[in-house]
Amino acid sequence: METKVMGVVGSGQMGSGIAQLAAVAGIEVWLVDTDSSALNMATKSISNSTQRFVSKAQLSHEAGKDAMNRLKCTQDLEELRDADVIVEAIVESEDAKKKLFLELDRIAKVSAILASNTSSISITRLASATSRPHQVIGMHFFNPPPVMKLVEIVRGADTSNDTFTKVKALAERFGKSVLCSQDFPGFIVNRILMPMINEAFFALYNGVAAKEDIDTGMKLGLNQKMGPLELADFIGLDVCLLIMKVLHSGLGDPKYSPCPLLVQYVDAGRLGRKRGIGVYSYGKEPEPVKS
Ligand code: NAI
Repeated sequence: METKVMGVVGSGQMGSGIAQLAAVAGIEVWLVDTDSSALNMATKSISNSTQRFVSKAQLSHEAGKDAMNRLKCTQDLEELRDADVIVEAIVESEDAKKKLFLELDRIAKVSAILASNTSSISITRLASATSRPHQVIGMHFFNPPPVMKLVEIVRGADTSNDTFTKVKALAERFGKSVLCSQDFPGFIVNRILMPMINEAFFALYNGVAAKEDIDTGMKLGLNQKMGPLELADFIGLDVCLLIMKVLHSGLGDPKYSPCPLLVQYVDAGRLGRKRGIGVYSYGKEPEPVKS
């Protein structure tokens, strides 16, 4: 059965992008957030992003308008009762996600698939909060979802082949390439990326070089589009720190220990672009971090 109605929970940078992809693909979407201002911001950002696709002639004016009409925002999870697939994109916290999965399991119809956009948390453990572990799966999009070509699909211990096949078909309907990872901390991409970002923070912390030189070195030396510190600001330093903690506790190796400077920036509220300040400043004056 093709996905006709989709729920997306969490309307931040990832959830809003996932909702946009679904609406453009012809799916009715409920976008849910506990915070009404986040929903307002998401509607604006989806509208602006859709408009950019229209102005680049990658989407017709009519298709853009139809997509916006398919999108509904709510603070009420109960609206998800008819969804065929629900993608969770809330804060990267196992406790918060488990609590939500428990609720979604109660609300969603029996056949619904519950997917998580988690960057690192065990799908098997999230599935254990539900009565339908064979219908729980990781559907890990990249930032920003409307632009990035990859979806990393993560199979929990009990994810069924049917669930995997349906989610793969959905990602392909969004025009994405997919890969499959087994359920280990950080999966494939973040297991490799986050230690690199963490090491860039250590290089800065140890005074190896200025932040600009660390980023320039990795961009020009390795032909990467963004340096690791710039990329951390783009992802969100809070998200990077939470993923490092999952890698550290899940893999038990001290090499995954988060850099104290990354911890300090997060403590200081320097979360990256979304806060106007992280490693770099985006129109906000940097203040000395706490010591
Ligand atoms: P964000 O901080 O931009 O958005 C999270 C949203 O979830 C907020 O609007 C918040 O109000 C809402 N929320 C929190 N608890 C909620 C609940 N119980 N019910 C409904 N809404 C709730 O976070 P972001 O960056 O969008 O990340 C979300 C998820 O996506 C995380 O699991 C993260 O690890 C993952 N992810 C993040 C990427 C990134 O580059 N930022 C890339 C890929 C995955």
